[in-house]
Amino acid sequence: MITQLSLANFKAFRRLELSLGPLTLLTGLNSSGKSSVLQALALVRQSFEAEQLIRGGITTGGFLLNGELVNLGTAQDVLHEDFGPANDFVVSSDPVVGIAVEQDGKAHRMGAVYDPRQPDVDLMRVPAFPEPMGLTTGRFQYLHADRITPAVTYPRSHQTAIGRGFLGVRGQHTVNYLRHNFEARVFKRHLLHPKAISDQLLDQTTAWMQELCPGVNLQASAIEGTDFVRLSYGFGGTAGLSSTRRRRPTNVGFGLTYALPIVVACLTSGPGSLILLENPEAHLHPKGQSRMAALIAAAAATGAQLIVETHSDHVLNGIRIAVKRGVLQPEEAVVHFFRGNGSGAEVVTPRIDNDGMLAQWPEGFFDEWENSLDQLLD
Ligand SMILES: Nc1ncnc2c1ncn2[C@@H]1O[C@H](COP(=O)(O)OP(=O)(O)O)[C@@H](O)[C@H]1O
Ligand SMILES: [Mg+2]
Repeated sequence: MITQLSLANFKAFRRLELSLGPLTLLTGLNSSGKSSVLQALALVRQSFEAEQLIRGGITTGGFLLNGELVNLGTAQDVLHEDFGPANDFVVSSDPVVGIAVEQDGKAHRMGAVYDPRQPDVDLMRVPAFPEPMGLTTGRFQYLHADRITPAVTYPRSHQTAIGRGFLGVRGQHTVNYLRHNFEARVFKRHLLHPKAISDQLLDQTTAWMQELCPGVNLQASAIEGTDFVRLSYGFGGTAGLSSTRRRRPTNVGFGLTYALPIVVACLTSGPGSLILLENPEAHLHPKGQSRMAALIAAAAATGAQLIVETHSDHVLNGIRIAVKRGVLQPEEAVVHFFRGNGSGAEVVTPRIDNDGMLAQWPEGFFDEWENSLDQLLD
């Protein structure tokens, strides 16, 4: 597990020290640096996967700014505008962008040198490569806020979905992954849905999707002779209709397809895996958002590490309830509230207690419900 992330001169942060738990929620104002935290981790992973950070690989490698996971632009885009010294990452007379990760008790520090004569490069040289760690070699998913939308077909990449088990940053490989692994067992106690007809992945996925839309079921199939797969939904007698016809995603509510990659990422997370999620609540009704939080907490309880950016009260409350119910220990659910203060980010970390209560409720932290109520009652 990654217990600590330190950043220097990375995008919105001159300096950031962030503690991470099995489940970490990143909350706060827009443009306060939440996604940048996920991007820093993804940047290390992406650079490593592209063999730019591997010892014995390309020896002049470093941070690969644009790739499969993130597209950060140029070195100039990444270097914090008001950069400060970062010689604790790498000693250089030029500015340094630093990312340090403490994982499984070991510290891994990476410092990339910014060359002022070449501000437009998208590979930032890292003089000292880190040793391989869970972040670079373990099971990994990263789902962006902008995910797959309902479509008639989805891509079928054997290498990505089946070879690497990667769902894609937009979840675009989820349907092919499900098609191939529909019989895989979901073993984990908290993840197993009690109403599912079996412990197989497709049945478990269906049961969790039914939390979002009662009665729904799904099928994933190959389109023979093409490089595409198809997803279809069935609805078992909802709204007074006993529908047996299958529906294509484009004729079904947006939220279901949007949530599918999150559900599959959580159900297939194993101990030691790292899952980065942006806005799992997107396009879901309030109860669906709470249930998503329950699934996320269950994944963390089975030994995966999840770092989740969210704007949802319901996701926060769902996690608090998971703590109250003992699915997670209080210290296993870390909540960070980012508030930009003009010159960079400031982070407050309200603690959850055994009863799911928060010790601290900073101004601006999920208080809009009460603010609005005050105005209504005024
Ligand atoms: N090179 C940079 N120097 C300073 N600030 C930056 C730099 N790159 C991005 N930012 C700032 O980072 C913020 C965006 O961060 P992001 O992580 O996307 O926010 P969030 O996910 O919280 O909405 C913006 O405020 C932007 O001005
Ligand atoms: Mg963001």
